[in-house]
Amino acid sequence: NELVVKATGGNVSSPIMYGLMHEDINNSGDGGIYAELISNRAFQGSPRFPSNLDGWSPVGGAQLALKNLSQPLSAALPTSVQVSGEKGMIGLANSGYWGIDVKKQKYTGSFYVKGEYEGKFTVSLQSALGDKEVFGKVEVESQSVAGEWTQHNFTLVPRKNAPNSNNTFALTFKAEKAKNRSLDFNLISLFPPTFNNRPNGLRPDLVEAFAALKPKFLRFPGGNMLMGNTIDSYWKWHLTLGPLKDRPGMAGTWSYQLTNGMGLIEYMQWADDLKLEPILGVWAGLSLDGAFYDPNQTAEAVQYALDEIEFLTGDAKRTKWGAVRAALGYPKPWRIRYVEIGNEDWLAGAPASYEAYKNYRFPMFYKAFQERYPDIQIIASPSVFDNMTIPAGAAGDWHPYLTPDNMVDSWDRLDPLTRDNLTIVGEAAVTHPNGGLGWNGPLGSNPWWIGSVAEGIFLLGVERNGDKVIGVTYAPLLRNLNRWQWGMTLVQHAADTKLTTRSTSWYVWKLLGEKPLKNTLPVTINKGGINPLYWVAGESDKGTSLFKAAVYNTTEPVSVSVRFEGQEKKGAKATLTVLTGPEDPYGFNDPFTGVNVVKEMKKTLKAEAGGVYKFSLPRWSVAVLETEKR
Ligand code: AHR
Repeated sequence: NELVVKATGGNVSSPIMYGLMHEDINNSGDGGIYAELISNRAFQGSPRFPSNLDGWSPVGGAQLALKNLSQPLSAALPTSVQVSGEKGMIGLANSGYWGIDVKKQKYTGSFYVKGEYEGKFTVSLQSALGDKEVFGKVEVESQSVAGEWTQHNFTLVPRKNAPNSNNTFALTFKAEKAKNRSLDFNLISLFPPTFNNRPNGLRPDLVEAFAALKPKFLRFPGGNMLMGNTIDSYWKWHLTLGPLKDRPGMAGTWSYQLTNGMGLIEYMQWADDLKLEPILGVWAGLSLDGAFYDPNQTAEAVQYALDEIEFLTGDAKRTKWGAVRAALGYPKPWRIRYVEIGNEDWLAGAPASYEAYKNYRFPMFYKAFQERYPDIQIIASPSVFDNMTIPAGAAGDWHPYLTPDNMVDSWDRLDPLTRDNLTIVGEAAVTHPNGGLGWNGPLGSNPWWIGSVAEGIFLLGVERNGDKVIGVTYAPLLRNLNRWQWGMTLVQHAADTKLTTRSTSWYVWKLLGEKPLKNTLPVTINKGGINPLYWVAGESDKGTSLFKAAVYNTTEPVSVSVRFEGQEKKGAKATLTVLTGPEDPYGFNDPFTGVNVVKEMKKTLKAEAGGVYKFSLPRWSVAVLETEKR
C-alpha cells in the first residue's frame, strides 16, 4: 500500500470522540466501581428483590432477624437487622462483595444503631477462614440510646495487607451491656480510600483503568438500568440523592437490587474528576417489559426530565431544583450539553412502543427541550439504522453488538450519514464469535484479540466520520468475576484488586482513543486499497499528523508506505506504535492467570527520501503512526 495523506480537505472531528458508558450491570456499580465494601448494607428491598440477610452472618452465637420497626432509620430504609444473644461479644459479619480487599490503608466506616447500650462496639476486618486472623480492629464508644437511631463513625487501619480477599467485616458488642441483650442496626458501611478522596466515592484502580483511556465523555445511567423492568421501576434520579439514609435503592434490571449509593451526583463527580462531558440519559416512558406511557403520562415524564436538568444546571437561588441541589451541598451548577431521550426505544415492546416513541414520546421531549434548553444537543435513543427519522438538529444513537466479521463490515456504515443526522455510538462491542449462532448463542466472556482488532477497524471508520459522530464508547465497561449477566466487557474485576484485568479491547481502544483527531485528512491511494489494511488519517490538536491503521484477516504482513503531503523532509521522525496479539485470534486476557496476550511495539521511524515512512503491519494488528510536531 502506498498512501499519501493530503494536507487539507478533511472534516473537523468531534472534540469528545472517545468516551465511557456506565450502568449497574455485572455488579459494575455496587460491588464494582462504587467503592462501598459492605454488601446489602441497608437491607434494601423491592417487590422484585425483597429485603434479605444475604451477605450477613451471626457472630458469637447471635440471632439475626430482619425487622420493619415502627420507628425505622428513615422512610427510605424501613428494614433493619436485630441482633440478639445471651452473653459475650455478639454481632454480625459481612462477606463484602465476594470478599473484601484488606490492605494497610485507611478505611472509613459508619453504622446506625438503636437500643440502650453502655459499652463499646468492636469493628474488625478479618480473614474468613480457619483461625480468623484479625488484620485490624477498632473500638467505638457507644452513644446508642433507646428509641433513637444514632450514627457511629470510625476509621480503621489494618496492621498489614491480607494475603487474599477472602475476608469479612465484623461488628460486635457485649450482650450483657445491651438492654434486653439486643440491638438494632442499619446502614453499615465501610469505604477504602476512594478516587480523588471523594466521600461515598469510587474505586481507584477501576477509575484509573478508565482514566488511562483518556476518555472525553460519560454516558449514564444506562442502558437498561435507566429503563427499569417495569414501568414503575425506572432509574428515578430524585431518589439517588442526598444522605445514604434517604436513598431507598431500586430493583436493578440486571437481576439484583441496587443501593443507588452511586447516584446522580456521584456520576457527575466521576465526570468532573476525569473532565468528561456528561451525556445524560433521561427516562422516556418505556420499560423493558414493553409497557409505555400514553401522551398524558409522557407529559409527566418530560417534566421529570426537565426537573432533572434544572436540578443539575439551575441557579441555586432562582430555581426550585437548583435550590434543592444547593441545599444538598452543591451550590455550583453543572453544565449539561447532551441529553439522550430514553434507551433503545426501538426494542422493548416494539412495534407499538416504538410507534409511540416516533409519534409522540420523542417529539414531546424534543419540543420541550427545544423550548426550555435550546442549547442542549438532544439525542434520540434509536438511530437511522433503526429506522428512526432524526429531526434536524437532533442526533441518534446506534449500538452495534456484533461478530468480528460484522464489526469489520460495519466500518463504512456511517459514511452515508450527513451532518443533519448526527449520531453517537453509545454502546459498541464484539460480543459473539464468527461462524457461531450470533445472538442465538451465548455471549463471549472475555474480549478476544480478533474482536478487539475488529473493533479497532470499526473505530477507524467512526473516526473517518468524526464530523457526524458525537462519540463512541465500548459497553458494558465492567464485569465482576463473581456475578455477571453480560460477558464481554472492557475491564474485569473482583474484590481483589490484583484481579483487575484490562481486556485486549482495552488496549485497542486506548491506543486509538488517547490520540484524538482534531480533523481528518483525505488519503490518496497510489497502490493497494482498503482491506486487509484499514486506516484513517488526520491531525491532532498538538500539531502532529496521525495515521491510524489496522490489519484484519490476512496471512501475510501488510507493507505500508505513507507520506504526509507538505512534509517531504528526509530524516523527519515519527513514532510507530503497533499492537499485536496471540497466535490464536480468539486468545484473550485471562484475569485468573494474569496473562496479557497483547504486545505493544513502539519505535521511531525516520522518513526516507520525499518524507516517506515505510513499515509493515502483521496480521491482526492495530497501529498508530504519529509524526513529530510540524
Ligand atoms: O450494554 C448492555 C446492554 O445492551 C444495555 O443495557 C442496553 O442498552 C443494550 O441492550
